[in-house]
Amino acid sequence: MQDDGMGKHIGILTSGGDCPGLNAAIRGVGKAGIRAFDMQFLGFLNGFRGLAQDRTMKLESDMLSGILTDGGTILGTSRDKPHKITVGDKTKNMTDAIIDTYERHHLDALVCLGGGGTQKNALRLKEAGLKVVTLPKTIDKDVGKTDITFGFDTALGIATEAIDRVHSTATSHSRVLVVEIMGHRAGWLALESGLAGGADVVLIPEIPYQTEKVADAIRERSKAGKHFSIVAVAEGAMTVDQSNRIEELLEQKAAAMSKEEKSAVSAELSAFHEEHVSHTQKLTSDLEEITGCESRLTILGHIQRGGTPSPYDRVLATRLGTACAQFLNDGGDGYMMAVRGEEIVPVPLEEVAGVKNLVDPNGHTVRSAKLVGTCFGD
Ligand code: F6P
Repeated sequence: MQDDGMGKHIGILTSGGDCPGLNAAIRGVGKAGIRAFDMQFLGFLNGFRGLAQDRTMKLESDMLSGILTDGGTILGTSRDKPHKITVGDKTKNMTDAIIDTYERHHLDALVCLGGGGTQKNALRLKEAGLKVVTLPKTIDKDVGKTDITFGFDTALGIATEAIDRVHSTATSHSRVLVVEIMGHRAGWLALESGLAGGADVVLIPEIPYQTEKVADAIRERSKAGKHFSIVAVAEGAMTVDQSNRIEELLEQKAAAMSKEEKSAVSAELSAFHEEHVSHTQKLTSDLEEITGCESRLTILGHIQRGGTPSPYDRVLATRLGTACAQFLNDGGDGYMMAVRGEEIVPVPLEEVAGVKNLVDPNGHTVRSAKLVGTCFGD
């Protein structure tokens, strides 16, 4: 795919939840593009919304200096979806406005840094005729077709340090410390920080659990003289009953014939997810009641997304960014730059959009944790 069209005009945006490494990635694309391929970059503010509303920030070399170690994104971000963005007082499909912006600035391509939702949005724009290249970003590590996403390693370090720290208070008070960890509907962050931090229990969405079995593990530890326990819980973890309920609702939604039926089931699903937000508080009080052991909950929340990227994420984001600039210069578009072992390879957006990278319950990391005695509540 040779195309030595040096001097291309490239748009760039960051979309979805922010994470450490975004600025390192912007810097990688921009510095490589400007220095090696004579490209010019136009940043769009606050994700796809800025693209639809034509809110820009010219990205020149001086803007890219000194941001490698900065958390967050200099462009701002949002969770807006192109086909649902409001401009003025009307809500309509804004893909046309995005195409207008793209053409008004005579862009040769658009680079989108984001997670699963961004890959789907980028495919929509590709199908609308725009040239798009994406980079996989998220602390959740749940984007399909790539080994890892930048942001994950930094969040893993933050969550692991938190688990390390709650050990001393749990032992001092002979308590059960429940630590809620982000990850949306994937369990990677809880699994790996739980293993790294020596949690006694790890609960993840991919392995529905039974509270009684968690309580048994805590009681067994007490009998062995370990009067404290650390429980690492993914925010998306569910009991077996909750998981069965979700499956039931999803089947009902798939089978629903009429629009009314579909929206009724969707409402039930939304209500379930809204109620599920506080599931770790209920788990903590249930464990205290069943085991008789004082229990406390720590919700790590957005601390896991804050601050400077880890060295690993700085290197990964830079490599993905420079690979993107090289791919653009070679005339590539319609692909995500993915991590495969030691390589960065382009994967068609059609193969990425909608594909989730979830924990394999029979995978080596889970098997390894079980071999050292970690309880998964199953
Ligand atoms: O996708 C990253 C993530 O941090 C998830 O782990 C979490 O569920 C979600 O974003 C939180 O979204 P928001 O920042 O919009 O509250």
